[in-house]
Amino acid sequence: MPARPILIDCDPGVDDAVALLLAFAAPDALDIRAVTTVAGNVSAGLTARNACVIRALAGREDVPVFAGCTRPMVRAPIEAEHFHGESGLGALAFDAPARGPETEHAVNAIVRIVSEAVQPVTLVITGPCTNVALALLLAPGIADNIAEVVVMGGARSEGGNVTASAEYNIFADPHAAHVVLTMAPAVTVLGLDVTHQIRATAPRTAALAGLGGARAAAAANLLDFSSEVTRAWGQGEGAPLHDPATIAWLLAPHLFTARPARIAVEMSSPITLGHTAVDFHVTAAETGVRWVTDADAEGVFSLLNARMAP
Ligand code: BDR
Ligand code: CA
Repeated sequence: MPARPILIDCDPGVDDAVALLLAFAAPDALDIRAVTTVAGNVSAGLTARNACVIRALAGREDVPVFAGCTRPMVRAPIEAEHFHGESGLGALAFDAPARGPETEHAVNAIVRIVSEAVQPVTLVITGPCTNVALALLLAPGIADNIAEVVVMGGARSEGGNVTASAEYNIFADPHAAHVVLTMAPAVTVLGLDVTHQIRATAPRTAALAGLGGARAAAAANLLDFSSEVTRAWGQGEGAPLHDPATIAWLLAPHLFTARPARIAVEMSSPITLGHTAVDFHVTAAETGVRWVTDADAEGVFSLLNARMAP
């Protein structure tokens, strides 16, 4: 099967960085047309720089990086430095990348790349949905050439990770998430319900580091940093593999279970802002949206190890 054309919109971010490493390591399956970045976990300047750091580490200078929105559509920016470190890449040591982002704005790049693609493009969003929402508002016709949008975000049965009921990516720009969920032709959402099932426990990251090579070492380093923070915050053993779950879904959907759903984003209540109301009383014929409920965590880590091996 030819590699699937994708575009990754992200806010690296330690787990975004692992998602990028996994995607960069799968050129046979994923034809990455671009990485676009957005303000989220850290500022827009840092997320763009970090995407370039990971691109260099992965030896994928063939993939252009475009820097995008510096703040959410409506609400005030909310960063997550406490979870991702001051640089956004935890404790990872790195040199300033030799090549930076392109000059074109990420929103324009998304519109151009999707419009020009011969085959429909899959968009992966692992940060606030701002860039993709604005691309859809700027050029609604691009929806016709989007195969699917895969979003890491939201929470149903797990509760939230920034407020009682909201997950960070949706909370950070709920209006953008609403635009994507209502304008994209097909959306698959991987929220905390599934990412909390895939934990980077110490034996798993030790096995990853034991593979040798720069990519595996970096992935283990990033995940170990997240696990430390997760433990310190009393959120259990092993960082959840939030963003890499989107790439794992694309590479090995058989490792996941998804259900047709209607998903509405709370945009006005100060208490439940960013909550995702997930309703399963709908058939696949009636909705283009799917909510991922379960993952085979061992399978996901086997996939990660297979791709990170030198
Ligand atoms: C999401 O929030 C961010 O901090 C992570 O990078 C991930 O995309 C998890 O809630
Ligand atoms: Ca992210």
